[in-house]
Amino acid sequence: MLATPTLAEEILELKQQRRATILAHHYQDAEIQEVADQIGDSLELARVAQKFTGDVIVFCGVKFMAETAKVLNPERIVTLPDLHAGCSLVDSCPAEGVRAFKRKHPDHVVVSYINTSVEVKAESDILCTSRNAVKIVNSIPAEKPILFLPDINLGNYVKKQSGRENMQIWQGACIVHATFPARRLSAARAEHPNALVAAHPECPQDVLRMADFIGSTSAIIEWCREQSADEFIVMTESGVRYSLERDSPGKKFYFVANENCNCSECPYMKMNTLEKVRDCLDTLQPRIELPRELMDRARLPIERMLAVK
Ligand code: 13P
Ligand code: SF4
Repeated sequence: MLATPTLAEEILELKQQRRATILAHHYQDAEIQEVADQIGDSLELARVAQKFTGDVIVFCGVKFMAETAKVLNPERIVTLPDLHAGCSLVDSCPAEGVRAFKRKHPDHVVVSYINTSVEVKAESDILCTSRNAVKIVNSIPAEKPILFLPDINLGNYVKKQSGRENMQIWQGACIVHATFPARRLSAARAEHPNALVAAHPECPQDVLRMADFIGSTSAIIEWCREQSADEFIVMTESGVRYSLERDSPGKKFYFVANENCNCSECPYMKMNTLEKVRDCLDTLQPRIELPRELMDRARLPIERMLAVK
């Protein structure tokens, strides 16, 4: 009797039939990262999605990431295992609010974090991610006033790094990173005195002040690999443990719980499951569908970002 294929085997078979690729953000469950063709941060996955020449992209991340993939490569079918996988930063910044700001401040350059809706991207001058935000802001002529949106913590970090005074910052926040309490990080440092601290720039200022390194998810993974230290406290979503342990065998990684769930998980990212990945390869649903004119307007600021070296 033939053995029943495992879910992972079914996924690999369907992936071939569909000429599909599976892209997974670092915050996905380990079992999803195991079947992925590419694991990365938001910038790396956008670049991979743009170049993909097969038929189907299964984007294992949240909706704004899958939308970005669709905008950059509109001829492909882009599926998201769970269409409800949103992001609190996207919710904090409605397009109408951005349009109202632009009407009042037509001179401002709108720099939008990739964690925004496609409608907000279409209102933006240039995009950025946590990996390149400082570089993007530094690429804008010094005399031009900037609106940075929507993350207040990333915005404050970029303002400090760039020394940019003429920069207004939207008041949005990530429900995971913005609720990492500094007191829990202090307690973790007391418990692990030899550990270095790596933090995502969406964390609050008092957490960032205690960090030895600040960077995107992939930058954190690279930095931990390069250090001679053996222990790290990692102030981001705990899904990064998969790549941290793969790239830095033998090193120890500690995570700090946030106030919302007493864990360090993004509830949106965790909506995707291996079953849903299999189902969307099978049915090619749920799919990202966007009006062409909206995609054309949103593509320009994304391409501007990708062109900044
Ligand atoms: P990265 O740009 O590091 O992938 O982060 C995306 C994100 O959603 C952080 O919460
Ligand atoms: Fe959005 Fe925060 Fe989840 Fe990242 S971790 S997807 S910023 S809610």
